[in-house]
Amino acid sequence: MWITLFLAALAAFAVFKVSLISYRRRRYPEPHYDWSQINTDEVSFPQGFHWGTATAAHQVEGSLSNNWTIHEVAKGLEQSGAACDHWNRWKGDFQLLSDLGITSYRCSIEWSRLEPEPGRWDDAALQTYSAMIDELLARNIRPIITLHHFSHPQWWEARGGFTKKENIATFLSYCERVFDALSDRVDTWVTINEPTVFSTMGYGLGMFPPGRRSPRLTLRVMRHLMLAHAKVYHSLKAKRPEVQIGMAKNVTLFDPRNRWSPIDWPLSRLLEWLWNGAWRNGIMKGRMLFAKIPEAKNSLDFIGLNYYTHVLTGLSIVSLRNLNFPKRDQEVATEFGYPMYAEGFRRAIEFLAPLDVPIEITENGVADASDALRPEHLKRHLWVLSQAIKDGYNVRSYHHWSLMDNFEWAEGYSMRFGLYHVDFETQERTLRASGEVYKEIISSN
Ligand code: GAL
Repeated sequence: MWITLFLAALAAFAVFKVSLISYRRRRYPEPHYDWSQINTDEVSFPQGFHWGTATAAHQVEGSLSNNWTIHEVAKGLEQSGAACDHWNRWKGDFQLLSDLGITSYRCSIEWSRLEPEPGRWDDAALQTYSAMIDELLARNIRPIITLHHFSHPQWWEARGGFTKKENIATFLSYCERVFDALSDRVDTWVTINEPTVFSTMGYGLGMFPPGRRSPRLTLRVMRHLMLAHAKVYHSLKAKRPEVQIGMAKNVTLFDPRNRWSPIDWPLSRLLEWLWNGAWRNGIMKGRMLFAKIPEAKNSLDFIGLNYYTHVLTGLSIVSLRNLNFPKRDQEVATEFGYPMYAEGFRRAIEFLAPLDVPIEITENGVADASDALRPEHLKRHLWVLSQAIKDGYNVRSYHHWSLMDNFEWAEGYSMRFGLYHVDFETQERTLRASGEVYKEIISSN
């Protein structure tokens, strides 16, 4: 009798577990393609599709003084220093864009250059940005300008940066000033780059400035970034309704390392919600992380997607602090440690689709100093993108991260993301084999 009962309970438990796993599989699939069966050369892109590369001011310009330069010294990190000396070499670098056949270039404006002290504006610096825009347009390259890409003046950081709601007004004035000077020629704008990365890395994991480790501040900064975005969006739209304004969202997918695990699965759902879902709610519903941000509702003309990987989530997540990511057996680890997972590019696009605005791929690329992986990485991601467009997703551009090797934040110069190799001693730029591959894809599409 007891044995029968025990066996029945065991069987019931097994059935429950199998159906739970299969429910999770159906509801949250984690596809893996057999790449040996896919011809990644078979791609096609619509007329008018934009081919681009992306950079950010602090990573390429050089000789800056901002929240990052302070953090680099304070944490004993490699210092950005001269970076790619792009501030002096931008004309030559734009020739590199033309050599690739690029039709769209995403770069950012460095607030600390324009307003080195509160209220003191450097008009010559703004003039240089303006000349850059003219040069891009003369080359038939569409500029996409990012207003905030992780860096800002130290004096603003000292006031609390995005932790304080009242500081948003100063950020808004800076954005308006840039917009007033450039929006007669720039029609595509990104307000804020990767709000979740900025808040988590700076206020949760302490790896970005200001190096804090406070869950409370992390959530607060997330909300304030959304509010700041919304305020900038509405103010700039009121000035020129015809411009296209969006945000660049890093969509990282969180998949349970073990689908059956009572820890991995809920943890992955929680992180997925915090990283992606809560942000999307902000835009779709004007509500985010238990706060009302009504201005945020529908505050996008397009969404920028930065896609790099999925994170296999489990208890090992604690070691994430060291950026030590697990991978599936069939996956290849990139130099950053996380796996190459092109299948997730499609999932990231699907995730953004309910926003019902066009998608611009504002970043995608890989750290790969030897360039052994980048050609395959590029081809797989472009194949996935081509399929998604064929299936009706409204994706208008692809910007490879990055044009050239540059200062990779907390990782310094150790991570090389460039289509061009940069010799940081001589500042010589050399096209990599992957750059040739990209150039070929652009010219045949
Ligand atoms: C993104 C960031 C870029 C670049 C890239 C490569 O998160 O926006 O600035 O660093 O990652 O890791």
